[in-house]
Amino acid sequence: MISKQAITATNNLRSIFPFASARQAFGAVLKTLAIEHGEILLPAYIGWSSREGSGVFDPIAALDLDYCFYALDERMHIDLESLRTALLTGKIRVLVIIHYFGYVDPSYKEAVRMAREHGVFVVEDEAHALLSDVITGICGREGDVSIYSFHKMLPLESGGAAVVNHPESDWWHGLHPMPEARLVLSDYDLHTIATQRIANALTVDRLIRELAPLVEPLWGSPRDGEVPQTYPVLIRTCSRDHLYYAMNAAGFGVVSLYHTMIEQITPERYPHSHAISHCILNLPVHQDASPDDMKAMIRTLALLLEESRCIA
Ligand SMILES: Cc1ncc(COP(=O)(O)O)c(C=O)c1O
Repeated sequence: MISKQAITATNNLRSIFPFASARQAFGAVLKTLAIEHGEILLPAYIGWSSREGSGVFDPIAALDLDYCFYALDERMHIDLESLRTALLTGKIRVLVIIHYFGYVDPSYKEAVRMAREHGVFVVEDEAHALLSDVITGICGREGDVSIYSFHKMLPLESGGAAVVNHPESDWWHGLHPMPEARLVLSDYDLHTIATQRIANALTVDRLIRELAPLVEPLWGSPRDGEVPQTYPVLIRTCSRDHLYYAMNAAGFGVVSLYHTMIEQITPERYPHSHAISHCILNLPVHQDASPDDMKAMIRTLALLLEESRCIA
């Protein structure tokens, strides 16, 4: 039997609670979970800056929660063995998965499955992956809750949200949105923004190959459904910091996510994370820029590499 129209009110329910930022949303979720024992398990690639602090780690420190990390490999992908080892301690209460730069880890679903096997609550940090969730739906639905940051993807000063995937569960009853925060999802044409970001990333991906081996794409072109926040590359053979400053001086707003790891993630224990942190450069692919802007950006990058004698 099929009714004339959908009538099952509990089908695909998803509750979105607005906050002033992703970190406020994450903090509120952790507080609502009222964790007395057990650890928060985080990926070992979390940044810190003097201006912003640490968007991921600050809520954990503020609530004085216990934490530990799982390793990422040399390509910044989840190290499933490290994750398994952490889960087997039996101490983990919450697993955090970060969809860095809007891309989705190849082992994302397996990681969530492993967490479920151990009865662990799953948070998907989608500060960079708002559109990979809302527009293409390739992330954000396996976990218990997803966290958005609006100002990372839209031209806003602030804004975030906690998205509860299964409102029939009751853990979130104490979660209250911030009264002054607004849901901005209906203010923008998110589909067009996503299309523009993907087109820009594909242009960068095609042109950047000419700068090999000096510039190495971390992951390459976005796969089906991935809507990039930025396009990450690795600069291993010349000074990443020099290129960062020179590109910004030339008018191309590159960033380094993240140039500094939080001190809890030590180079001795997490060498891959530190190696990436030293050479990562994130190229802007946002909706204000066109494929022609991408071409100009890559041309400038090539000139700067030549000037700094990286190119023979
Ligand atoms: C992966 C990730 N999650 C969360 C945050 C926090 O975002 P917001 O500035 O909205 O608090 C940041 C940035 O600081 C981030 O990079």
